[in-house]
Amino acid sequence: MNTYLRILSYAKPYGKFVPTYIIYALLSIIFGLLNFTLLKPLFDVIFEQVDPASLTQFTSKPSFEFSIGYFSHLFNYYFLQVAETYGKMGTLFYVCIIIVVSVFLANLFTYLSGVVLAKVRAVVIKRMRMDIFDRVSGLQIAYFSNERKGDLMSKMTNDVQEVENTIVQSLRVVFREPATIILYFAVLFLMSVKLTLFTILIIPISGAIIGGITRRLKKKAVQSQQSLGRIVNILDETLSGMRVIKAFNAEWFMKTKFDEETDYYSHVNVSMARKNELASPISQFLGVSVVAGILIYGGGLVLSGNSDLGASDFITYIIIFTQVLNPAKEISRAMSNIQRGIASAERIFKVIDTPSKITSPKDPIHLEGFKNSIEFKQVSFAYEESTVLKGINFTLSKGKTIALVGPSGGGKSTLADLVPRFYDPSEGKIELDGVNIRDFDLNKLRGLMGIVTQESILFNDTVFNNIAFGLSNVSLDQVIEAAKIANAHEFIEKLENGYETSIGERGSKLSGGQKQRLSIARAVLKNPPILILDEATSALDSESELLVQEALTKLMANRTTLVIAHRLSTIQHADEILVIEQGKIVQRGTHAELSQTTGLYQKLSSIQSV
Ligand SMILES: Nc1ncnc2c1ncn2[C@@H]1O[C@H](COP(=O)(O)OP(=O)(O)O)[C@@H](O)[C@H]1O
Ligand SMILES: [Mg+2]
Repeated sequence: MNTYLRILSYAKPYGKFVPTYIIYALLSIIFGLLNFTLLKPLFDVIFEQVDPASLTQFTSKPSFEFSIGYFSHLFNYYFLQVAETYGKMGTLFYVCIIIVVSVFLANLFTYLSGVVLAKVRAVVIKRMRMDIFDRVSGLQIAYFSNERKGDLMSKMTNDVQEVENTIVQSLRVVFREPATIILYFAVLFLMSVKLTLFTILIIPISGAIIGGITRRLKKKAVQSQQSLGRIVNILDETLSGMRVIKAFNAEWFMKTKFDEETDYYSHVNVSMARKNELASPISQFLGVSVVAGILIYGGGLVLSGNSDLGASDFITYIIIFTQVLNPAKEISRAMSNIQRGIASAERIFKVIDTPSKITSPKDPIHLEGFKNSIEFKQVSFAYEESTVLKGINFTLSKGKTIALVGPSGGGKSTLADLVPRFYDPSEGKIELDGVNIRDFDLNKLRGLMGIVTQESILFNDTVFNNIAFGLSNVSLDQVIEAAKIANAHEFIEKLENGYETSIGERGSKLSGGQKQRLSIARAVLKNPPILILDEATSALDSESELLVQEALTKLMANRTTLVIAHRLSTIQHADEILVIEQGKIVQRGTHAELSQTTGLYQKLSSIQSV
């Protein structure tokens, strides 16, 4: 219930929709009901049941008041007038015209209320999507492990769709159908109290049976959506890893995985359908049984002359009653849908409610710019249990370059990720100009840094937008300037549409070196005082490595740089080299110093110089 209300709260302010909707819905119900109550005079005319004596009281026009009595009096007044002037055929016309008009009005208002609901639905879904998007972009890097990606994508697409199809759809049912039932029952009571009391006794029994079935659906719905998340994940991995899959002849492997998951998915869905499909036949069956019961009981009353109901009243009564069954069925169907929708909504809200572990402080310390140094003080870090970094101490002074080297898996990338606060240290602290970086505004802190990693992260957009990424009001001249520094201008110019060329998904239309030079141009344009380079050249062949290395050297000029290099030759001029092994600094010094000392650095450089 809470979840349901929370979904509805996305439609705030309610004042914009609710009153209009209620008015339209009520009008459409009332005119719908009018149709059926008009059946009685229709039957009376056809079956010649009109009792002239009973009509004499309607010879004068009633004085206006807003009540059923007034309208029925008014109707009977004109009914009598028409009957006297035009005879039976005339009255038949009269009744039919009123029926047609009220059907028209009923449907007109149904349409209008439907349009209001469509607006509510659009607003709710849009806001819900934005909410997930906001939350997800605000979460810390650690949240986005691979297995979660498919799950997140499924939440943002399928679950939202599910909420749209079920919950928002159910809005109609939630207000309209109960109102319909109440109004219809009011009319039924007016027609015959005895018979209506009898029907009220049997309805809850059938309601309870249907309710029992739908309650079991929710658990299955959760399993179904989770499975869909895994399916999306497999698809995503397959599509983005197609080269590797083909090269390793591993199609069968992904296929088996996909096969198993889709099997499970269909199994869950069939078992969900078993219960879901049962609801409609059972309620149909119960509905007809109830009508049969009323026919026997009420028909008996009419036949024995024991009731205030005439034959035409009784038929009208039965017809109106069958109309109550429809909304009742709708409600029971909506109930089972709502269970599915709520399961989806709960998955969505779980993401929306995930607190971000890395946030800006409430009162951030003002950050003017980078003045003196970045300092690691006794920093340790663990992803989960096992410690990845232990007791790291070093100072990176403004304008200097520190290089990290060491065997793969030693913790270099992790160390670099701590500076822009992709992760926070488990122990110790990192200071910028003497202030813990946690005390600064996150965006301001990251604004000081430019990052180029081994894989260039590009977006399916134009060259221009990829370079100007995240910056507003950038001119083409500035972008070209940056591209020139990054050795990228030449190849960009040769592209089909120059800077306006779309580079495809993840830059698939470019070579590795070209992608990397675009990433560097992006960093050049941002012009940050602090640079973090994580093996920016290691994925490249030696020719493009040369071009990229040259671009990097230009980028590093006059900046403070933390560089991770797999090739020691590129960092010989670093002001300090930290050799990192198993999360610790095992050696430190300049290239000249370290080359003289026996140790890991010497070993690494002798391997590379072969
Ligand atoms: N997101 C992660 N979650 C858990 N463990 C990780 C994650 N990223 C890296 N590790 C582990 O942390 C250690 C250091 O990795 P990394 O910093 O990438 O080393 P390097 O960059 O020196 O090769 C490795 O043992 C690696 O398995
Ligand atoms: Mg690394």
